[in-house]
Amino acid sequence: MPAKTALVTGASSGIGEATALKLHELGYTVYGAARRTDRLQKLADRGIRPLAMDVTDDDSMRAGIEKITAETGRIDVLVNNAGYGSYGALEDVPLDEARYQFEVNVFGAIRLTQLVLPRMRAQRSGTVLNVTSMGGKIYTPLGGWYHGTKFALEALSDCLRLEAKPFGVNVVVIEPGGIATEWGAIAADKLEKSSADGAYAAQAAAVASSLRSEANTNRNSPPSVIADAIGKAVTARRPKTRYATGFGARPLIALRRILPDRTFDTVISRAVGMPR
Ligand SMILES: NC(=O)c1ccc[n+]([C@@H]2O[C@H](COP(=O)([O-])OP(=O)(O)OC[C@H]3O[C@@H](n4cnc5c(N)ncnc54)[C@H](OP(=O)(O)O)[C@@H]3O)[C@@H](O)[C@H]2O)c1
Repeated sequence: MPAKTALVTGASSGIGEATALKLHELGYTVYGAARRTDRLQKLADRGIRPLAMDVTDDDSMRAGIEKITAETGRIDVLVNNAGYGSYGALEDVPLDEARYQFEVNVFGAIRLTQLVLPRMRAQRSGTVLNVTSMGGKIYTPLGGWYHGTKFALEALSDCLRLEAKPFGVNVVVIEPGGIATEWGAIAADKLEKSSADGAYAAQAAAVASSLRSEANTNRNSPPSVIADAIGKAVTARRPKTRYATGFGARPLIALRRILPDRTFDTVISRAVGMPR
């Protein structure tokens, strides 16, 4: 039997890079997709096939899936990991930026899923893994648009799990906590761009500093923690519907579940150092 095939988006950095390596180690033929193909060279040197793909560009997604199926004849695993955090006060973030974040984090993932499902249904097997976040279950100040994308991807994944089950296709949600990648610095830069001046400046300074200090301490988990969870999910006979792992994920999701809204508001505002 030929090796199974996996596609990992956002493979040029962080979680995606670690996941591509993990799936390769597990024996998959792995395609690592990203816009910055120069950043895929390290993976290519290890036997992972680089793919230029922008998840906001339908043609590039179609071409990528066509290339994979032409070369390997199958797609067994899709890891929808590409994403970023565009932080900023809800009032400040320009709607074009908010829409773009939904394009990348939500529509890109679902469009790719639409493109792989016919093949997976024909095979009567496959796994779609959507990387959401603990931020798909909890909320933080000035993270509204980001959480909106991740809550949306959680709901879409749950519905898809029901729809895909009769065809033998699994749908798995991966909920990382704090992971040491480029994500935090990007989110802080976006936050400052939207809200460093104006009514939310003091809140923005606090949240940006919290995002940067998380990124700069050893507190966050390494991306390999998420890659291991994905490895576990794809090799399980019956994968769990959700894997929450990495710094803070399980305790924060549990707190959100048990605490009343206003108590959680206080806890999370203090955690990110919001001015009182
Ligand atoms: N780090 C955390 O603490 C954390 C926590 C929870 C969830 N997550 C989620 O985990 C996922 C991976 O993030 P990370 O932490 O590994 O961040 P990262 O190091 O910044 O990596 C993000 C990846 O997404 C890709 N990407 C961004 N926009 C894209 C686009 N339009 N088309 C294609 N690829 C695009 C980037 O590749 P190119 O720029 O080369 O295209 C990059 O490879 C994201 O969905 C993020 O929201 C991260």
